[in-house]
Amino acid sequence: MAPSFDDGNSLFNFVVRDGNGVKGMVDSGLSTVPQAYMQPPIERIDKDRARKHGHPPIDLSKLGGPEHDEVAKQIVRAAENLGFFQVVNHGVPVDLLESLKDTAHDFFSLPAEKKAVYRDDVSPTPLVKYGTSFVPQKEKALEWKDYISMQYTNDAEALQHWPEEIRDVSLEYLRTSMSMVRKLLQVLLENLGVKPEDSMIDVLVDKKMVNMNYYPTCPNPDLTVGVGRHSDMGTLTILLQDGIGGLYVKIEDDSEFGKKGEWVEIPPVPSALVINVGDMVQVLSNGKYKSAEHRVRTTSTKSRVSIPIFTMPNATAKIAPLPEVVEKDGNTLYKEFVLVDYMKNFFSNAHDGKKSLDFAKINSA
Ligand code: OGA
Ligand code: NI
Repeated sequence: MAPSFDDGNSLFNFVVRDGNGVKGMVDSGLSTVPQAYMQPPIERIDKDRARKHGHPPIDLSKLGGPEHDEVAKQIVRAAENLGFFQVVNHGVPVDLLESLKDTAHDFFSLPAEKKAVYRDDVSPTPLVKYGTSFVPQKEKALEWKDYISMQYTNDAEALQHWPEEIRDVSLEYLRTSMSMVRKLLQVLLENLGVKPEDSMIDVLVDKKMVNMNYYPTCPNPDLTVGVGRHSDMGTLTILLQDGIGGLYVKIEDDSEFGKKGEWVEIPPVPSALVINVGDMVQVLSNGKYKSAEHRVRTTSTKSRVSIPIFTMPNATAKIAPLPEVVEKDGNTLYKEFVLVDYMKNFFSNAHDGKKSLDFAKINSA
């Protein structure tokens, strides 16, 4: 039985505690946005004022060929300015991308009980977590999003613990993405004057997570957000988005990509993947590469899915700006920290733009 969504407590219990998610709420027949999801005006997304990011996707098949340097430069420029770019010929089969989106829709269409078994406090495995919004207990306004998150340790554990409906495609997506991720990191590190050994890249992408995000249709997208302003905490994120659109990135400084403070949309491009720089790459590069602030709009016509792979160092890794870069720069913007401490801070606060990086800043005052 769906409760009255005007009452914050019963809404919270239905959506969050009992694992019905935003999807369950919408399916119960909803004609207005409940108070708990109303964003303050400053967080709302004005669709008509956002420009689309016009840069064509970067063709990764050219890495290692005669046009290598030009392509490497495109990657570096995008990472230095916007922190986001799209890639094609990335090595992930295009039909797998289609299956992933279909599989995500199928999974979220399952009865709530099938998904709710993976809620944080009851999940049979620490590797899998199903949830809604980001940190519902801490948020002033909830995010219009349900998700499932699968941590990768090794193939055997993934096969054993990941939900069987989504396990095989997710694993194949991860498997076929990783050589692209390594190549991108190689390009980014070489540009910093670092000769990246395989072992160094191993450390940077030691931990991997595949998520499936589901953004149900919303009766009034102007009042809500799918995901609020945030940066990703890890190394690089690979994101598959569907054709609906609504992913926006904030421009940090004036550049060829736009004006400081402006939000631009990363438009869906068939068969492309979106890459974005995470906080760890910003720290390692001593601020040269930008972990971009981004957010997602909701839509009233169709539900949207996106499927990110998050890569990050091991929880025990010590992270600090790379010595080669600090030497060249003559200063260091970030202190050394252990990743697990950064993660704890990141996952215990509501999304708040790039505030997560304050944890690592030296003299941020
Ligand atoms: C995320 C995220 C964007 C999207 O999951 O961190 O930013 O398009 N997703 O769903
Ligand atoms: Ni993100």
